[in-house]
Amino acid sequence: MSDADDLQAKWDARYAEGRVEDSAPCGVLVEYAHLLPRAGRALDLACGLGGNALWLARRGLDTTAWDLSPVAIGKLAGCAQLQALPLTAEVRDALKQPPSARSFDVIVVSRFLDRALMPALIAALRDGGLLCYQTFTRETPNANGPACAAFRLAPNELLRFADGLRILVYREEGLVGDTTQGLRGEAWLVAQRATLT
Ligand SMILES: C[S@@+](CC[C@H](N)C(=O)[O-])C[C@H]1O[C@@H](n2cnc3c(N)ncnc32)[C@H](O)[C@@H]1O
Repeated sequence: MSDADDLQAKWDARYAEGRVEDSAPCGVLVEYAHLLPRAGRALDLACGLGGNALWLARRGLDTTAWDLSPVAIGKLAGCAQLQALPLTAEVRDALKQPPSARSFDVIVVSRFLDRALMPALIAALRDGGLLCYQTFTRETPNANGPACAAFRLAPNELLRFADGLRILVYREEGLVGDTTQGLRGEAWLVAQRATLT
């Protein structure tokens, strides 16, 4: 079995129990919904059960969702079809088949990090397109997210990935101050492909 097969089997087992109805959009999308276009093509990359994709499609965006897990994609596709949503769910290894250049108006990634993919994500934004990213940080006061530090962001790392884009939102509070308050254990980014003058 290859590493990719192992990974797929791990996520398939996890999603076998999950319900699409319980999957929710990530905080950065909901909180900054006012920044999103009303129309256009959206991608939910490493979508899992597709909380982001369903939310984007319900807002009228022509939405594509990719994940390694056939179990998750099967459940998401079934839900989208039942509700006649503009959503195409596809089993796809985003590392082997990253998005094409200039192909999406919105790209959302939540709770997934592969540093090698970042340049392709930025290249895949159309002019004016938004990258909405939310994932775990190394600095955290809680036990949420992956145990392996390699799958978590270092301070300011997400901000650096978006170099060249216009930063609309960046939130990362580390362990500063009262860690029972605020956004902890995650970084949030909304950045736009725009002409910077
Ligand atoms: C922690 S889950 C996050 C799912 C969803 N984005 C969310 O926020 O609930 C990580 C997801 O990444 C997917 N994944 C891991 N490697 C991938 C790859 N190379 N291409 C596509 N999906 C991948 C897994 O199958 C899993 O569904």
